[in-house]
Amino acid sequence: MIKAYLKKDPWKIIEDQFHADYSMVSESIFSIGNGYMGQRANFEETYSGESLQGSYISGVYYPDKTRVGWWKNGYPEYFAKVLNSLNWIGINISFGDEELDLNTAKIHEFSRVLNMKSGVLSRTMMIELASGKKLELTFERFCSYNTKELGVVNCVVKSIDYEGPLSLDAYLDFDVRNQDSNYDEMFWDLIDTDHSNSVYAKTKKTEFEVLASLNCEYKSSTPFDKTIHQSTAIYGERFTDVISPGQEKSILKKVIITTSFHHDNLELQNQTLRQSVRTKDFKSLKLSHSDIWEKKWDEIDIKIEGDVAAQQGVRYNIFQLHQTYSGEDARLNIGPKGFTGEKYGGSTYWDTEAYCLPFYLSTSDQKVAKNLLQYRHNHLDLAIENAEKLGFTQGAALYPMVTMNGEECHNEWEITFEEIHRNGAIAYAIYDYTQYTGDDSYLLDSGMEVLIGIARFWAQRVNYSKRLNQYVILGVTGPNEYENNVNNNWYTNYIAKWCLDYTHQVIQSALENNPMKANQILVKNNFDSERELNHWKEISEKMYFPYDEQESVFLQQDGFMDKEIYPASEIPTDVIPLHHHWSWDRILRSCFIKQADVLQGMYFFEDQFDVDTIRRHFHFYEPLTVHESSLSPCVHSILACKIGDNDKAYEMYLRTARLDLDDYNNDTRDGLHITSMAGTWLSIVKGFGGMRVKDGKLSFEPQIPEEWKSLSFKIKFRNHNICILFSQEQIILSKDSAEPLEIIVNNTMFTLRDQLEVAALLA
Ligand code: BGC
Repeated sequence: MIKAYLKKDPWKIIEDQFHADYSMVSESIFSIGNGYMGQRANFEETYSGESLQGSYISGVYYPDKTRVGWWKNGYPEYFAKVLNSLNWIGINISFGDEELDLNTAKIHEFSRVLNMKSGVLSRTMMIELASGKKLELTFERFCSYNTKELGVVNCVVKSIDYEGPLSLDAYLDFDVRNQDSNYDEMFWDLIDTDHSNSVYAKTKKTEFEVLASLNCEYKSSTPFDKTIHQSTAIYGERFTDVISPGQEKSILKKVIITTSFHHDNLELQNQTLRQSVRTKDFKSLKLSHSDIWEKKWDEIDIKIEGDVAAQQGVRYNIFQLHQTYSGEDARLNIGPKGFTGEKYGGSTYWDTEAYCLPFYLSTSDQKVAKNLLQYRHNHLDLAIENAEKLGFTQGAALYPMVTMNGEECHNEWEITFEEIHRNGAIAYAIYDYTQYTGDDSYLLDSGMEVLIGIARFWAQRVNYSKRLNQYVILGVTGPNEYENNVNNNWYTNYIAKWCLDYTHQVIQSALENNPMKANQILVKNNFDSERELNHWKEISEKMYFPYDEQESVFLQQDGFMDKEIYPASEIPTDVIPLHHHWSWDRILRSCFIKQADVLQGMYFFEDQFDVDTIRRHFHFYEPLTVHESSLSPCVHSILACKIGDNDKAYEMYLRTARLDLDDYNNDTRDGLHITSMAGTWLSIVKGFGGMRVKDGKLSFEPQIPEEWKSLSFKIKFRNHNICILFSQEQIILSKDSAEPLEIIVNNTMFTLRDQLEVAALLA
């Protein structure tokens, strides 16, 4: 059941009355961030209701000791978690003895707005005190986009008819915990600081230091008292005043957070930054932050005319992605929940390569996508070590399912040891990058080594079945995690074969085009060209794929047809989502599919299948899919466009675009589904826009929903910034570069100079 409690607006997310029952959902939805740090929409003031305190800083993680029921050899010792860091937003507000707490207060008006255009979160409300007197409060806050270390909160209190004491206590608090701590431990050690305006702490084990300093300005037209309270964990400034009807008092918090992960000298850099914002008022700080967002929107926006729900959804997704990752630092990556919750520990999953990479490739500087690839290259040695721990040899690399620094963190055997398809996505991303950018240099610099490690893994992971005279892959978990320990998951077998073929091809073309460099890499990696390439070729030629003759479909895995097969539409709605209601055993025995699996493969490798084949598979698998992974609906939406099923494409688009805004899977309270947000972008650009790169040329086959007046977006493609507009009547393409560009629209080649208009080409 979706929760439609937010207002639809093209640029804003609006909650126009306080929904205490959804308070954790809203805490996730209204999260703010700037790639450096992020903050859930916790209230500034005390809140005694249900809440997940969440303030996160990129790269600052803690290796929490693994907790499992039954230890199995090969399990990792720890699960790295991006930590809940200091509370920098806190402002306790009291009126005499009465402390403001929305869980108990009488609320007359409440409005919370996340303005995506300016990147500012605001909240206004009118509350009534026990005495019946009323006050209006306004909060605004943002994580600055131009000074990434800066968090700003401004709070204005206005009395309607209250006369009496007012106290505002603005503080920094490092006495924080992770709710998901495995052993209920504190992850931080507090450090005494010489500076009277700061709190300082260091993570245990990883020893990341974080220093936060406060600059506070209180404005009042009447005399007030200021007191400072400080302990090792807390630094606070309390302003005590009186307020009369009609009067306004305000407090501005400017917090600078520096870390040893990002800064060579966190104390000095903290002081310098603090100094640089000291004299700036709220308005000017907000303006320079919002200016950057507004300029950014000029490059990243997707406009949908005629459908506010769809418009709001896609902007929200783009906004959150850019709040999470800005791509300047190859040590960082994109956690499935970004900075909006503790689930998934802020670690890296295959989501990055399979979903996020194409988004950043088209909407950011090329170096951003390259940094994402580089991240995996930097972890190659650890991926080889990881494979060695599991018994693989000779440079075979198994990348972790979940990682922070290259080491595996996940500790459920059916995922850690069996969900090996992630290796395929990492190879696919290299292909995707070179296809899109035309930049082959990455292959020789780093990509080829990664591919060799991955191909070697597959060559050792398959085994030859005498019975079939084919190669099989036994005991795996495919993308559909509602099946474990299956044999011959079609997707895994397919991507394994593809990795072997692709790596073969990359090595051969490197040897032809740059033999010296290619040989250096092969020697460095002890590559035995003849033996290894021949072996790969044999595996590839003899890879087994489960197939059902009667349905003419590839089977998700051996034995799939022996299940009781009936459509998901027959599942009673009160047991959805299944993983909340059914035993794991029942889920495993059922035919229901958590997320695109065979269809994920058809999406990646669509050129290798004709449209009828894709349609047949779509019609077979879509009715069985429950989309209980956020990564699923976008793939279905893209394929539905491909086979011309517009209604399904639109249904799946809304499900991906509004997954969190409408809380489709009843789990937004844990945090947002950041990585699947890239899937929303994919559904628009690759789905409705039909964008592909074919033989190095950009190609479009648009098919926009009937209710949309127009759809437009911008992409970066090989030194060109291209603007694309599809309406029901025409397609307009334009670009800002002088060099002409050949572009394919609905299978016809055009030359795009400045602008190109193609009429009535919509299917
Ligand atoms: C999905 C995985 C995904 C993970 C993180 C799981 O629910 O099944 O495919 O990598 O979430 O997003």
